Amino acid sequence: MCLLKVSNLKVVYPQTIAVRDVSFSVKRGEKIGLVGESGCGKSVLSLSLLNIILGDGKVERGKIEFKGSDIFHFSKEELRRLRGRGLGYVFQEPQSAFDPVFTVGNQIVETLLSHSVVSSKKEAKEIAIKYFKMVKIDNADFVFNSYPFQLSGGMAQRIYLSLILMLNPDIIIADEPTTALDVITQKEIMKLIKSIVDEKKLSLIFITHNLLLLKNLVDRVLVMYAGSIMEDGNFKDVFENPLHPYTEGLLKSIAIHKGKKEYLDAIPGNVPHRVKEEDKCPFCDRCLKKMDICEKKYPELKEIKGRKVRCHLY
Ligand SMILES: Nc1ncnc2c1ncn2[C@@H]1O[C@H](COP(=O)(O)OP(=O)(O)O)[C@@H](O)[C@H]1O
Ligand code: SF4
Ligand SMILES: [Mg+2]
Repeated sequence: MCLLKVSNLKVVYPQTIAVRDVSFSVKRGEKIGLVGESGCGKSVLSLSLLNIILGDGKVERGKIEFKGSDIFHFSKEELRRLRGRGLGYVFQEPQSAFDPVFTVGNQIVETLLSHSVVSSKKEAKEIAIKYFKMVKIDNADFVFNSYPFQLSGGMAQRIYLSLILMLNPDIIIADEPTTALDVITQKEIMKLIKSIVDEKKLSLIFITHNLLLLKNLVDRVLVMYAGSIMEDGNFKDVFENPLHPYTEGLLKSIAIHKGKKEYLDAIPGNVPHRVKEEDKCPFCDRCLKKMDICEKKYPELKEIKGRKVRCHLY
């Protein structure tokens, strides 16, 4: 069953097109990776799935359907339900997800009561402690009574993840959830997300600039550049045999050096700050395989052997 369907979505800011003609769908239990360098539109796209458009951005066209209903026509109450019981969003900065002036427990109780998951504070605390254990928090009582500033980044991310799970969402969206954490905590959080998603058979949209993080985590990957989906396919196929020159560049930028993974600058140039609706390939200024047509025509997303690729080479 298709849970979420995005069709021809375009989100613009006065200075740039953040999301350009994006279409994809998420089935129940499907795990999708969304990858691209910083500034490619990943966060704008993922927040728009909750009908959240920050700043002076606007949805210029397109449709997002959750379980068949258009979320841009949702009432306040339907949106509130979507943002919690439909889609659980894990942010990059875990501490910023909490209000600094209330204890963690207080915020969890209020959230569970407002989403009608529980009918009393006592029941809310019982659920919180149970879920804290699921995310491997031992000193649950102490954490429940703590203020957000008393928690490490890794601990805050675990608690936020547990809060999202308490609402029992259909889809978890994790927007670079480990970027702000140290390497060891990153690995622990990744392991936790994977085990929970597998165990509860949840759908997942995992956003990252690092393709390697998606290995053994997702079924499918969407590669995004300058607001456009450049490649969309089964993760293993894309990882082992990338079709798009941008995907190839992302993979080459992860080199194995003396057993350690290092990030090398394999793609010349930078992500454009301003994307305009021009009739050319958005990647043509950085592409090593550029042809004449690349500067004259915006490539369509073509289907090739069960995959999709936006490039004139195909
Ligand atoms: N609140 C905002 N105001 C103005 N421009 C924004 C805002 N949020 C994002 N953008 C622009 O949209 C583009 C995509 O940003 P973003 O989705 O944050 O990229 P990513 O998450 O891939 O790093 C960027 O050019 C960024 O500057
Ligand atoms: S369309 Fe042309 S410029 Fe764009 S990625 Fe393909 S070969 Fe490179
Ligand atoms: Mg982002």
